[in-house]
Amino acid sequence: MLIVANFKANLTIDEVNTWIDNFYQQQLTSGQKDSPTVVVCPSFISLSSAYNRLKQKSWNYPVYLGAQSLSQYPNGSYTAEVTGQMLKDLVRYVIVGHSERRRFFNESNDAVNNKIQQAQEAGITPIVCVSTIDEVNSVKSKFSTFTGVFAYEPLTAIGTGKAETPEIVEEFVKSVQSIFPSIKVLYGGSVTSANIGSYTKIADVFGVLIGKSSLDPSEFSTIIACAE
Ligand code: PGA
Repeated sequence: MLIVANFKANLTIDEVNTWIDNFYQQQLTSGQKDSPTVVVCPSFISLSSAYNRLKQKSWNYPVYLGAQSLSQYPNGSYTAEVTGQMLKDLVRYVIVGHSERRRFFNESNDAVNNKIQQAQEAGITPIVCVSTIDEVNSVKSKFSTFTGVFAYEPLTAIGTGKAETPEIVEEFVKSVQSIFPSIKVLYGGSVTSANIGSYTKIADVFGVLIGKSSLDPSEFSTIIACAE
């Protein structure tokens, strides 16, 4: 099971380090061993210090770093871009095509596909956010085989407190897997410690992508403890 914390445009470098320290304390006292793989995605500027902070600790379960996006271009004359080649030594995962990127930064399906390509070339696992089956088909149009992860994030559920029903999530996951057999699919959208169990108990749901509730390390630890 994969549990991804997406900090979005929140937390300074120091605050991310403090978050990691607090999360580590919670993890020490939880005594949990066979827990999910956790991926923490702070902003680009925090990645380097977060990488070192995570490495200093001995975790009970795998805790990796992820980026919230990457450039659709390779290294070169693309001012201000952060490329897969720059990220590959720091992160194992990268979120691609989050709906906030699609909405506020006009990220098109083509850009999403280019980003998947850049991530794969850098050996970083893309977590591709989709809210419609068309977006999944767009990935299929470029990649006949795809070894990344999808995150189903219905627009009505993101940051609204109105999580999607487990039934609809299950149905969507099955549709994705009819396009990419056995692909791993996460659910994202207003996940909390109170509702996570209803998603992670669905056999085909591989994990969750968490925004707001991940900012509080104590709530995030409780979410992990409640994941089935
Ligand atoms: P939320 O965000 O958990 O705050 O709804 C999820 C996401 O945008 O990935």
